[in-house]
Amino acid sequence: MPLNCFCCATEEDREPAETSRVHKNRDYPWEVYSLKELLHATNSFHHDNKIGEGGFGSVYWGRTSKGVEIAVKRLKTMSPKAEMEFAVEVEILGRVRHRNLLGLRGFYAGGDERLIVYDFMPNHSLITHLHGQLAADCLLDWSTRLSIAIGSAEGLSYLHHEANPHIIHRDIKASNVLLDSEFEAKVADFGFAKLIPDGVTHLTTRVKGTLGYLAPEYAMWGKVSESCDVYSFGILLLEIISGKKPIEKLPGGVKRDIVQWVTPYVQKGAFNQIADPRLKGKFDKVQVKSTVLIAMKCTDNSPDNRPTMIEVVDWLKGGIGRRKKEITKVEDTEDDEGSEVYDESQPEGVQQVPPHRTPDSR
Ligand SMILES: Nc1ncnc2c1ncn2[C@@H]1O[C@H](COP(=O)(O)OP(=O)(O)OP(=O)(O)O)[C@@H](O)[C@H]1O
Ligand SMILES: [Mg+2]
Repeated sequence: MPLNCFCCATEEDREPAETSRVHKNRDYPWEVYSLKELLHATNSFHHDNKIGEGGFGSVYWGRTSKGVEIAVKRLKTMSPKAEMEFAVEVEILGRVRHRNLLGLRGFYAGGDERLIVYDFMPNHSLITHLHGQLAADCLLDWSTRLSIAIGSAEGLSYLHHEANPHIIHRDIKASNVLLDSEFEAKVADFGFAKLIPDGVTHLTTRVKGTLGYLAPEYAMWGKVSESCDVYSFGILLLEIISGKKPIEKLPGGVKRDIVQWVTPYVQKGAFNQIADPRLKGKFDKVQVKSTVLIAMKCTDNSPDNRPTMIEVVDWLKGGIGRRKKEITKVEDTEDDEGSEVYDESQPEGVQQVPPHRTPDSR
């Protein structure tokens, strides 16, 4: 049976039990779904409805009786969180609303089942476009990539600085950036760590590659802070620019991470060579350079040297505001910036003056 519980609401907020289990004071209803409805929507979690699988369970596409498309995450809970505790936490996450965060529609908790219902994102995730099934057929152009980067940064900045309580995501990566019908970025799975039973590690996705996004201090000592998310965002940014995976397997089995790959290009000032070759030179050179420099600041080994997400949003947006939204066709594939040497010891700009404002990048 579903929980008829809005226990984190105040007495005033709480609706009488006999009224609908639907909260109406949102941009759309927040529901405690019945298992029957979710089984019906997903054709009993039919294999054909499965969108994918992550470290916490599987995600299924569904359509509600009202005709709304949904995505249902079916958690594999080895030692299920108490229904009440789970309900409280999902309800808190459901209150976090921003145009760049994936909206939670509701949940079901009963018996062994823990189901979370989201808006379905018709353009899937960034990972599908960068490395997955849609990578070949549906190329994200440079301006779309940049607006996805800005949207994700804004969603994350909201979580860090405006959400109450503030939320550290802990799992920023391309599969957690979903794309709506307009290719607007929606950051997913924020606050998810709270829903997972104690002792259950996020092993599957770690093995699958989340590792490439982890800040060194988090990977080595488990030190969590907002700046771990900033590091992961920097990796995501490099991935968006280059179309490369965070960790690459070289011939011979040696692994190389994206920061190791990008650093020599940055040192040579060969920024155009960092851009995804699939863009075939159709990108704004100044924007590529400034975005790479922002990513380098985000992926600084020392958390204290990383910017905040507020700064990152500002830098990314500033760079775009100052440029016309035109795509520059780079005639010559050779970089003409080869003589500009990036000096890490004197990061001209990014922190004091954003890179897009540096005189040499105009
Ligand atoms: N609301 C949604 N709409 C469309 N696709 C979704 C939605 N939610 C998740 N997906 C996709 O389903 C797949 C599985 O998602 P899931 O979150 O379970 O795993 P993950 O993102 O790979 O890893 P993690 O468990 O660390 O989040 C991913 O490809 C994800 O992009
Ligand atoms: Mg996910």
